[in-house]
Amino acid sequence: MTAHGERVTAGRAAARGALSLVLLAGIAAILVMIVPSGLYDWIKAAHVVAIIAWMAGMLYLPRLFVYHVASPAGSEASETFKIMERRLLRAIINPAMMASWSFGLWLAWEGFRFSAGWLHAKLAAVVALSAVHGYLAGAVRRFAEDSNRKSARHWRIVNEIPTLLMIVIVVLVIVKPF
Ligand code: HEM
Repeated sequence: MTAHGERVTAGRAAARGALSLVLLAGIAAILVMIVPSGLYDWIKAAHVVAIIAWMAGMLYLPRLFVYHVASPAGSEASETFKIMERRLLRAIINPAMMASWSFGLWLAWEGFRFSAGWLHAKLAAVVALSAVHGYLAGAVRRFAEDSNRKSARHWRIVNEIPTLLMIVIVVLVIVKPF
């Protein structure tokens, strides 16, 4: 792909990311209006379920990339990986991310009015996690076009980032150190 093509693709990805953020802020605002505060524990349970699905996908996708890199373009294995990656992203990771954010923002407003130190730090870590999500979504597109240039080692390293962010996030929300 040319440098111009890459800029256009990156621009579209950023526009899609911005649209998702607007959409989920709207969903969270609607939830705040219609869901009674008494359902706090139920929404928290739904949040944790959504997080489990989001994290499972975020940890599995770069693993698929590690194996995909080893399959020659056009081979049966490579075409199978493309289907697995696309389905994992569209059917699990994207909806789970939207649900995690929507329920999480509801909890942050209902429980804390967005005013706790640990919550601000958690939000920063979750924004970083969402950026990794965007990066992986872009990679799914590049693998589908057989234009991935990154090595298996690169994807192994990327695989560790959601794990590290997850540890930080869980400690922040459960220990609430500040
Ligand atoms: C997407 C944006 C997110 C927001 C706005 C958010 C916000 C929140 C809030 C306000 C709570 C309630 C805390 C309490 O009642 O003590 C909560 C619970 C929780 N969150 Fe999130 N969260 C988000 C994403 C995540 C992620 C990515 C993870 C894990 C990787 C996570 C893990 C948890 C867990 C385990 C709980 C339950 C904690 C408890 O019951 O003590 N959250 N979240």
